[in-house]
Amino acid sequence: MADFDTRDALKADSSPNISSDVVKKAYYEPEWLKKEYAALWPRTWQVACRVEELEHVGSYVIYDIGDESVIVTRSSPDRLRAFYNVCQHRGRRLIDGSLSGTTPNFACKFHGWRWNLDGENEHVVQVDDWHGALDGDDLCLNQVRLDTWGGWVFVNFDPDAPSLRDYLGGVCDALDPLKMDEMRYRWRKWLVVNCNWKVALEAFNEGYHVNVTHPGVVKFGASLFGSREVGIHSMFDTRASTMRAEGTKVKAADAGVDVRKMAAGFYTYQHEELGSLISEAMVPAAKAVPALLPEDATPEQVFGKIIELSMQIDAQKGIEWPMLTPEQYQQVGIDWHIFPNTVILPMASNCLVYRARPLGNDPDRCIFEVSHIERVAKEDIRKVTPERNDDIYDRAFWGEILLQDFQQMEATHKGIKSRGYRGPRLNPEQEKPVANFHRVYHEYLSEA
Ligand code: FES
Ligand SMILES: [Fe+2]
Repeated sequence: MADFDTRDALKADSSPNISSDVVKKAYYEPEWLKKEYAALWPRTWQVACRVEELEHVGSYVIYDIGDESVIVTRSSPDRLRAFYNVCQHRGRRLIDGSLSGTTPNFACKFHGWRWNLDGENEHVVQVDDWHGALDGDDLCLNQVRLDTWGGWVFVNFDPDAPSLRDYLGGVCDALDPLKMDEMRYRWRKWLVVNCNWKVALEAFNEGYHVNVTHPGVVKFGASLFGSREVGIHSMFDTRASTMRAEGTKVKAADAGVDVRKMAAGFYTYQHEELGSLISEAMVPAAKAVPALLPEDATPEQVFGKIIELSMQIDAQKGIEWPMLTPEQYQQVGIDWHIFPNTVILPMASNCLVYRARPLGNDPDRCIFEVSHIERVAKEDIRKVTPERNDDIYDRAFWGEILLQDFQQMEATHKGIKSRGYRGPRLNPEQEKPVANFHRVYHEYLSEA
């Protein structure tokens, strides 16, 4: 087990000690990245892709993590499989140069050995040279465990890991009512950031930063959050004095505030500057509300009406929202961190999703992906290609809200490396997801 208690990081009065020091060094020392590759990434369930990306038999997606590469494919109409992306002859990558595509089989470009979509070897060039010594079973591609939840394809390299359902535990209980599997990508963006993957991820698994990092959001929405651990995962939500509405927790009516106008302003801002946590229908719905409700309408009335109108607009397009009870909405919360590297901000109509991964053997850089999935009409088949843009100042591409988050990452990573930094002192109410992450992370790494 870990040689320290990360809960120390929760203590407001935590002083410099081994725990803070270890937590700090794990962000940038190459030795810790090596431990991650030995004990974390090979043993955790991690999102490889979406089921929708594997539409046809032979569709495949490559998922790379460190030196490992996995082929995720549809081997038959109702079967998905994952294989180590390696030829069993001399070890060449079977698929290189493309991260997705469609293929009838996996043919190695070096000497031409070939496997079918179930990973069985179906061809060895000049096989007679082996005089019958090649055993068919031994030539199969090596499988990686695969399972799906919410339309996400997860893989796990560890044959002894718990089932995906057991691993996700309370995440499924809270988010299953959203029927995320019925959502589809609308956009995907990614970049390489000059910070450790944990720094990038931790810009998104707590709400404490919103007050200062996102003034444009605070103007409209709640800024006091509460968080909790859900096993190895974590979530956050707002605290009292706010109400639930699709897309945000919105401030209770301050005296004299016209909630109708505030709501229209908020949804327009979020639509323009994030392009997520809001569905297309909600902007016209919010703009229609001032003509339908009186000036002194309560937040409940305003946001109830916006949801009602949005559902009507979507229904006309064949898009159906799930009906959640107030208790289920409460469980859904605002933000979920799925250990180790995925964050989902779940809504009934759409979700904003983040995934962070280390880049090669460099602890100072990471791959960071942002995507938006949303509820669609059944016949709406989309092909969404991830767009890369490493310019963390390109507001036209990323929007103001993500730029504000990006500005924190590199600066935080640099600061963490300073001799003058004593280690994290986490907000006991709002930064539990960060503390819980480090607790679980160091439990995994203690076995490296
Ligand atoms: S390395 Fe693949 S066929 Fe030789
Ligand atoms: Fe943020």
